[in-house]
Amino acid sequence: MLKRVAVLVSGGGTNLEALLNAQESGRIPHGEIVLAVSGTAGAYAVERAKKHGVPALTLSRKELGQEGFEDALSACLKEYRVDLIVLAGFLSILSASFVAQWPERIVNIHPSLIPAFCGKGFYGLRVHEAALSRGVKLTGATVHLVNEIPDGGRILLQKAVEISPGDTPEILQRRVMEQAEWELLPRAVEALCEQLTQE
Ligand code: GRF
Repeated sequence: MLKRVAVLVSGGGTNLEALLNAQESGRIPHGEIVLAVSGTAGAYAVERAKKHGVPALTLSRKELGQEGFEDALSACLKEYRVDLIVLAGFLSILSASFVAQWPERIVNIHPSLIPAFCGKGFYGLRVHEAALSRGVKLTGATVHLVNEIPDGGRILLQKAVEISPGDTPEILQRRVMEQAEWELLPRAVEALCEQLTQE
């Protein structure tokens, strides 16, 4: 039985696209992306999911509040019989009580080599701005399980990416996505789905 995957997004959705492409080219043989959920209105990720024929909906955290959002999300996950949750550029932090209901079943991609430039406040371009202002020569991406500590769960995969002279946060963000994120996330999702089929 294929493991059923929900992808939570907030923005552009390029990692979601990488997952959908991986699925379509047979690189996630143990899983199936059954649902995309955006926590913010107007996320382009929703359009991407629809273009690939995957049901996508928006649950605005701003409108629903944290508890309302998580209650609505839990109902959707139940309805779609989801086995694994992927946070792919999902900007909200899930509550400890929500996370506790999904032990080792939530995975996140973070655009740095954890434990560098991670935790509260490190999201989106801010991560790359911090790496550039610290002057590191290597950054990268990390796929990790989600626990109650932001960016604190068990690390599954990491890949380093070189910083070049003259990089801007935008250029670096794109390079980290191309060279690390879009490769690591589908690999991690397949590995987790395979593991879940053996449980
Ligand atoms: C990615 O850099 C991801 O690592 C981070 O947020 C960004 C989302 O990009 N958590 P996208 O929405 O997948 O294009």
